[in-house]
Amino acid sequence: MGVLSNGNVSLRPIERRDLDKLNQWKNDESVYRFLGGGFLPVSRDIQEKWLDSLMDTTGNSKRFMIENDVGEAVGMIGLYGINWVHRTCELGIFIGDGSQRGKGYASSAYRLLEAYGAMYLNLRKVTADVVDKNDAAVSFYENLHFRQAGRLSKQRFIGGEYCDLLIMEKFLGDKEEWGGCCSKGGGVFHPEEVPPQWLVLELGFQNCRVFMGKTRKGW
Ligand SMILES: CC(C)(COP(=O)(O)OP(=O)(O)OC[C@H]1O[C@@H](n2cnc3c(N)ncnc32)[C@H](O)[C@@H]1OP(=O)(O)O)[C@@H](O)C(=O)NCCC(=O)NCCS
Repeated sequence: MGVLSNGNVSLRPIERRDLDKLNQWKNDESVYRFLGGGFLPVSRDIQEKWLDSLMDTTGNSKRFMIENDVGEAVGMIGLYGINWVHRTCELGIFIGDGSQRGKGYASSAYRLLEAYGAMYLNLRKVTADVVDKNDAAVSFYENLHFRQAGRLSKQRFIGGEYCDLLIMEKFLGDKEEWGGCCSKGGGVFHPEEVPPQWLVLELGFQNCRVFMGKTRKGW
């Protein structure tokens, strides 16, 4: 069982026992080709040298293993380059095992980490660099209400061609995302943005709304 949990997934710090899995994922082109570091196979020995820094959650990068509902490590998620003045950070995420994708694990993991980042790290905004031809990731971020802030043309060389990079951003504080309540005007949320699948309860109490029962998997 992980440290942060919502029933669908758990997040826990990386441990030494994760080395083989991390190395297997690192050497899988389908996992790393669109990530910032790109696809570069590395030996288990080199990966082991990196392990201390990967495990360290005390600095400005915080990585977590994503465990599924039966406690199996299926991927990694992290907040990188946290800036404590501006209260910004960058998100990185992958589900390493292809058979575990499309099950809502990444969305659940993100929501957990967003809630943790807002509630315990006092973060304000998260950004993500997304290769525009990475359709799954673009859709993933849009689903989580990231907006496209910009596009860097031909920014990355991947698989023999230059690819555009989308800069995505999201302000935290959409507490509705994690099932809380939020006073009117307290965040960046606007009523017209409520997706139709949300059940919205208007409490009429201190201008509070509670959002419940989102009808998609992963909640
Ligand atoms: C992007 C990634 C993290 C999504 O993980 P996942 O667990 O499969 O995602 P979820 O099951 O939570 O899906 C959430 C949404 O993502 C989008 N999505 C996921 N897989 C998709 C696919 N193959 N094609 C299109 N959209 C997809 C959908 O919008 C989906 O919502 P829906 O189920 O309501 O349609 C995963 O595909 C992955 O690890 N890719 C390789 C690494 C990577 O590219 N990371 C992102 C770098 S920016």
